[in-house]
Order: sequence, then structure tokens, then C-alpha cells
Amino acid sequence: MERLLENKVCIITGAAQGIGCKIAQQFAQEGAIVYACDRQDFTPQEGINKLVFDITDAVAAKQAIVSVFKAEGRIDVLVNNAGVVFNRKIGMIIREETELMFRINVIAVLELIQLVSRLMSRNGGGSIVNISSVTAQLGSPGQVAYSATKGAIISLTKSAAKELAPQGIRVNAVAPGIVKTERFEELYESDGQKIDKRIERIALGRLATPEDIANACAFLASDKASYISGEILGVNGCASI
Ligand SMILES: NC(=O)c1ccc[n+]([C@@H]2O[C@H](COP(=O)([O-])OP(=O)(O)OC[C@H]3O[C@@H](n4cnc5c(N)ncnc54)[C@H](O)[C@@H]3O)[C@@H](O)[C@H]2O)c1
Repeated sequence: MERLLENKVCIITGAAQGIGCKIAQQFAQEGAIVYACDRQDFTPQEGINKLVFDITDAVAAKQAIVSVFKAEGRIDVLVNNAGVVFNRKIGMIIREETELMFRINVIAVLELIQLVSRLMSRNGGGSIVNISSVTAQLGSPGQVAYSATKGAIISLTKSAAKELAPQGIRVNAVAPGIVKTERFEELYESDGQKIDKRIERIALGRLATPEDIANACAFLASDKASYISGEILGVNGCASI
């Protein structure tokens, strides 16, 4: 059977756990040569390559990305999944947390796009998938600073798509709703009532799974999406937050 990402060289950030880990596994199943990256050490599934570096460390990031290019001769796909969240009501927002979120969720993403797009263009192009959030599209109380970082992802995706199109590089974003990851279960499992209220506002009646997000990323990364660029694909079960 035809696989979506056969032999495509794919770099996925924030892949030690959660959504990124599932994206890495799904891409490998679809035939990709996967480089899973994270700042924490981890044991990837068999057949997946591991790179440990912090995406805010420009020197380490360049070294890691160039090592992939040297080993494989090309880079076809970048998924900018690594991200952090600090939830605070407006009155409680702490500047250091906001700056850290912007450094990881926005500035490092820009710098990775800068680095990888140069290498992609040497081989006629590629596909970049950024991870935004439903909070950027619909708003969410207690997530003003975080949602601003994810709104920045929407804007930079659209501009990068226009700028990089002549080099054959497509740039899209996936905007997940609430995803049931291990971290989510730790945070909310004890508070079933609050979650039931959130689910009431999701038309499809359930939270997202990491597979839902990975499926959307695989599609956008693949040649099946070859005429799609500058789009923000909501994967939120038709939520109204
Ligand atoms: N989980 C959700 O409900 C949800 C909803 C919408 C969007 N998102 C976004 O999806 C992405 C993944 O979320 P998740 O829930 O799987 O998060 P997670 O915290 O479970 O995993 C994030 C991974 O990124 C890594 N990471 C963080 N900062 C890094 C850095 N500076 N350098 C390298 N790696 C770094 C972490 O070590 C971790 O392994 C994030 O961008 C998040 O904002 C998540």
C-alpha cells in the first residue's frame, strides 16, 4: 500500500512525549526517515533517530540540523511542535514566563524555519508544519500570553508561506483543540467536572487524541497537500471553547 511520507526526511521538534512523540511514530509508519528532537533525553521507538538539543540554543540547533542534512543529503519536512505553556489570568502574568514562551514558541520556530528553509531550497523545496492552537483562533481565558504566542505562529505561517513559495517550500499550521496527552491526564484527570464542561463545547463530543493531530500533520507534510500553503488547519472537533 502507498505510504504518505515514503523516504521523506522529516525533523520533528518536541518529540520526546505527547503530541510530538505521536507525530514521530505516525510519520515513521508512513515511511518517513524520522529525526525526533527534544531538549530532554528520551528513548525513541525503534527506527526513529534521536537528536537532543534545545531549540532556543541557535548553535546547537544549527549543528543538529546540519548533521541531518549531511547524513541524508536533504531535508523534506520540518514539524515545529516543541512548545511550552504557562496559564495565568491577566493580573497574574509573569514577564519571565511570557518571555520564555515567546523564545520557545515563536523566536526559536522562526530561527528553525530560517535554517531549514535554506537547506530545503537546495533540493527544490519541502514542507513546514507549525503547531498553533485553538486558543489563538477562538481565545481562552487564562491563556492570554500563551495564545499570543500561538497567534504569532498563525501570522508567521502565512507570511513564510508567501515568501518561501518560490523556493518550493510550503508552510502550514495545525491548530489543535485540547489534546488528551499524558501531561493533560496528569493535570486534569482529577478534575473531571471541568473537563466535562469543555467537552460540552466541542460539537464532536470528545477531546482530540495525539493521533488526530499527527494525522493532520502527516497530510500537510505529504505531497497530497502539494497545492496547500499558508493554511491553518483547525483540529478541534468543531469547538467553541
Ligand atoms: N496538549 C494540548 O492540548 C495542545 C493544544 C494545542 C496546542 N498544543 C501545542 O502542541 C505542542 C505539543 O504539545 P504537548 O501537549 O505534546 O506538550 P508536551 O509538554 O507534552 O511536550 C512538549 C515537548 O517539547 C519539548 N520542548 C519544550 N521546550 C523545548 C525546547 N526549548 N527545545 C526542545 N524541546 C522542547 C518538551 O521537552 C516536551 O517533550 C505544543 O506546541 C503545544 O503548545 C498542545
